[in-house]
Amino acid sequence: MKASSTPPAGADTDWTIPQDWRNYTATEHSVWDLLFARQSKMLQGRVTDAFLKGLDVLRLSKPGIPDFEELSQRLRALTGWTVVAVPSLVPDEVFFEHLANRRFVAGRFIRRPDQLDYLQEPDVFHDVFGHVPLLTDPAFADYMQAYGEGGLKAMRFRALHKLARLYWYTVEFGLIREGDVLKLYGAGIASSFGESIYALDDPAPKRILFDLERVMRTNYRIDTYQRTYFVIDSFEDLRRQTADPDFAPLYRRLEALADIGPDDVLPSDRVVGAIG
Ligand code: PHE
Ligand code: CO
Repeated sequence: MKASSTPPAGADTDWTIPQDWRNYTATEHSVWDLLFARQSKMLQGRVTDAFLKGLDVLRLSKPGIPDFEELSQRLRALTGWTVVAVPSLVPDEVFFEHLANRRFVAGRFIRRPDQLDYLQEPDVFHDVFGHVPLLTDPAFADYMQAYGEGGLKAMRFRALHKLARLYWYTVEFGLIREGDVLKLYGAGIASSFGESIYALDDPAPKRILFDLERVMRTNYRIDTYQRTYFVIDSFEDLRRQTADPDFAPLYRRLEALADIGPDDVLPSDRVVGAIG
């Protein structure tokens, strides 16, 4: 996301651009195929069932970079969401406006073959493979739309940096408990070969039960694997805890509360123990 400005040449007033699916090269499609094969294998038993179901119903295993039109047709029929292409960075209000209207904005470019493991900007693999499968889940789909509306509101309250942490620690890096098994659901983890192992198996990071106020106070690292993950019990539970309450009083309360470091554990935290 970036500060407000006008759309670049070739983009529509809402910053969308054509995906130009026909312009992808064979090499670009093969990068997708490689990442897809590697990551969908890795995620078996690690990612929430809703994600695997999403991959399946959206036919994302079809070879090549997905055509957003075709993908949107399937997705729209399920939860009313569509996927639109944008230049890699769009202004906050543009991003939120799309989410509030059930449009997921995705980059159309794909990383080069020598960048399989690390990339600074989200590409079409992160955006589509990582984010889109969960948009088939009705509760998660509602959460994302509500988040878009909440983003526009947070801008009016000058509290976007607080709300952005909620996105970071759920949509990008969230963990979920299924029964007593810990799974991942965040797109930043699901699209990362290294972090999809680390987030669940490594003893180093903290795993703390989701608490809205705690999350909105917690700084995050963008330069390395996360130090702390927050664990939800279900998407319906997440939706209920965030979409229902009015954040205005919370934003006011947060102004008086100190930020929490990415490594800190508080006495009030409910730390998730032994992973099985
Ligand atoms: N309920 C929040 C508000 O009143 C909006 C929101 C919904 C934020 C869902 C995040 C996720 O601002
Ligand atoms: Co993302």
